[in-house]
Amino acid sequence: MGRVLVPPRFLASAMEASSSFVACDDDVILASSMKTGTTWLKALIPCIMNPNSGGECSDDDDDPLTESHPNMLMPSVEIQIYGENSTCSVSDMPSPRLFRTHLPYPTLPETIKTSTCKVVYITRNPKDAFVSLWHFLNTFKTAEEGPAPIDEPFELFSNGVHPFGPFHDHVLGYWKESLKRPEKILFLKYEEMKTDPRGEVKKLASYLGRPFDKEEEVDEVLWRCSLERLKNLEVNRKGFDPWVGAPKSSYFRLGVVGDWKNSLSEDKKDRLDEITSMKLEGSGLEL
Ligand code: A3P
Repeated sequence: MGRVLVPPRFLASAMEASSSFVACDDDVILASSMKTGTTWLKALIPCIMNPNSGGECSDDDDDPLTESHPNMLMPSVEIQIYGENSTCSVSDMPSPRLFRTHLPYPTLPETIKTSTCKVVYITRNPKDAFVSLWHFLNTFKTAEEGPAPIDEPFELFSNGVHPFGPFHDHVLGYWKESLKRPEKILFLKYEEMKTDPRGEVKKLASYLGRPFDKEEEVDEVLWRCSLERLKNLEVNRKGFDPWVGAPKSSYFRLGVVGDWKNSLSEDKKDRLDEITSMKLEGSGLEL
């Protein structure tokens, strides 16, 4: 395994999670690198797995998404379960338990790999993931500070300095494993979800063993988990994520494929494209 870069504040809990977390056979683990559309899946997976709460034909009162930010519905193993001041107890969680993680594949807790629990991996074009990250980091800045110039974070990202990254290694770790064990890892791309949301969500539900009975159920789940709806829910508009310190609203921005064009110069685009094609060469993966 190559180097893995873990933000210092999460290092101890990430190591603890990696060595101590014990997966159950019916757990669902959502894995991703940052800013790849994880929040969409943090909403979709609970909706699919618990269809009677917020699923088909139920009203907003029964919908956990109106009560809780998606971060709460799929707690992060390394940040919420093993993090400092954790209030989440795995033993109190009803089955099937739903978790998420940014841990790279080689550092996943062993029982996630060896049990029959399912892993859903989401990724995205690296230019869009980077630009999304830059906007996200800027939400930590005060109005007086203003947004950080893009050059420095771009240099870091291009050199592989990325939380739980390098980004391309993270993607490749899960990609290669998903080729070996497609029943274990469902590999999704944000762009494909945007182009064919119905098809991709049906694929996701079937993979999770909860195929939809009716087409209307697909539309219902897609609407409940849409960026437009989540962005405007009271629960996601105010306050801060207690573990990361980011505004709850910062997880919902534009959701546009190719938004990097508004922030990256031609040189930066070329550089990142070159790195991506070099890193992914021979893997069969295109991003
Ligand atoms: P943009 O910054 O490009 O808008 P993550 O959830 O991994 O942190 O990724 C955040 C990105 O996913 C953001 O992209 C955000 O707008 C987008 N996103 C969040 N919720 C979404 C949803 N329900 N549907 C589509 N995209 C969503």
